[in-house]
Amino acid sequence: MGGCFPCAGEPKTVEKDQPHLPTGIRDKSKSNLSLDVKKESLADEKETSSNGSGHIAAQTFTFRELAAVTKNFRADCLLGEGGFGRVYKGKLESSNQIVAIKQLDRNSLQGNREFLVEVLMLSLLHHPNLVNLIGYCADGDQRLLVYEYMPLGSLEDHLHGISHLSPDKKRLDWNTRMKIAAGAAKGLEYLHDKASPPVIYRDLKCSNILLDEGYHPKLSDFGLAKLGPVGDNTHVSTRVMGTYGYCAPEYAMTGQLTIKSDIYSFGVVLLEIITGRRAIDNSRAAGEHNLVAWARPLFKDRRKFSQVVDPVLQGQYPPRGLYQALAVAAMCVQEQPALRPLIADVVTALSYLASQNFNPESQPNQNTSRSTTPGTPPRTRRDTEKRSGY
Ligand SMILES: Nc1ncnc2c1ncn2[C@@H]1O[C@H](COP(=O)(O)OP(=O)(O)OP(=O)(O)O)[C@@H](O)[C@H]1O
Ligand SMILES: [Mg+2]
Repeated sequence: MGGCFPCAGEPKTVEKDQPHLPTGIRDKSKSNLSLDVKKESLADEKETSSNGSGHIAAQTFTFRELAAVTKNFRADCLLGEGGFGRVYKGKLESSNQIVAIKQLDRNSLQGNREFLVEVLMLSLLHHPNLVNLIGYCADGDQRLLVYEYMPLGSLEDHLHGISHLSPDKKRLDWNTRMKIAAGAAKGLEYLHDKASPPVIYRDLKCSNILLDEGYHPKLSDFGLAKLGPVGDNTHVSTRVMGTYGYCAPEYAMTGQLTIKSDIYSFGVVLLEIITGRRAIDNSRAAGEHNLVAWARPLFKDRRKFSQVVDPVLQGQYPPRGLYQALAVAAMCVQEQPALRPLIADVVTALSYLASQNFNPESQPNQNTSRSTTPGTPPRTRRDTEKRSGY
């Protein structure tokens, strides 16, 4: 479980340069957080009953209710634990809905701010690839968030956790990996391109990609999200926050945050999906601790691509798909933010890869086959630069 921490090594404290947040959260309909969402993005959403915008407003719960739902936060209801507290499974009495309840550490000042940002962001943002906030509890000093339950847990559990080894969970095959990558990219596209001003997620990592039935991915944890630059500004300045290994180098060094910082983190996640390696893994040999640093030289040599791919796949992947997915990842993790692609281009590329159903039965196993012929080369860096407008 990789807890969040400030990349610059400073303690996690309240940021002075946050966007202006409403001081109260009780009446969210009157929130003064200005964030519009372009209409077309709502078209494919499953609508539930309405608060006027087509979504159920987050409900408030009492601490007593949530304690009852989790059998007093009993250990056998525990789903996991992150940097901000524990997550429990429970069933709401009113609706019989299964939920995940995150109980924030009571002593954390930062936790309270992130609690507010999370409630606000998830009350305003709705997309099939973002986790749904059902409600929250702000009783006294208790802070709890109630989310829809995601039955397949996090992408991290599947890629790196013990679950991928247990016999009841199938290992993630190539097709599922590409579908997860494409879905996560769509969630990010919504934040960058459909929300206005754009929302910079800042905490994209495998443990924050939760999986619904059918491995449908949803982004979670918006406590670190920030509203992007408006007007002529190219970036927002912040205290550096995020998770080591996922943080874009320029953001870690200067604190200047742009949507391209999220693209870098996305590239790291995509590399984890392809290689099965962690962003940071100190148990590996020297020179292999940092995934991006290890992968970069390999991007240049097509003959080495088969060494990059997750051995758990046992050679069952399309060489052309691997080549293209690696090209997308390589573009996303470029040092120069301006050279990284826009998320819309990433969505296009990954949606294409996800639509190419790879059938291991009808294709040679890459561990035994010598074929490394790549297919159509992916979009070049020059094309991406042109489209990105940087
Ligand atoms: N809505 C949910 N449905 C099912 N399981 C969940 C849900 N939310 C969280 N979990 C589980 O709880 C674990 C802990 O989540 P949490 O977001 O608190 O921490 P994290 O993402 O692992 O780390 P960090 O604190 O750095 O974000 C997750 O890895 C996941 O397994
Ligand atoms: Mg999380």
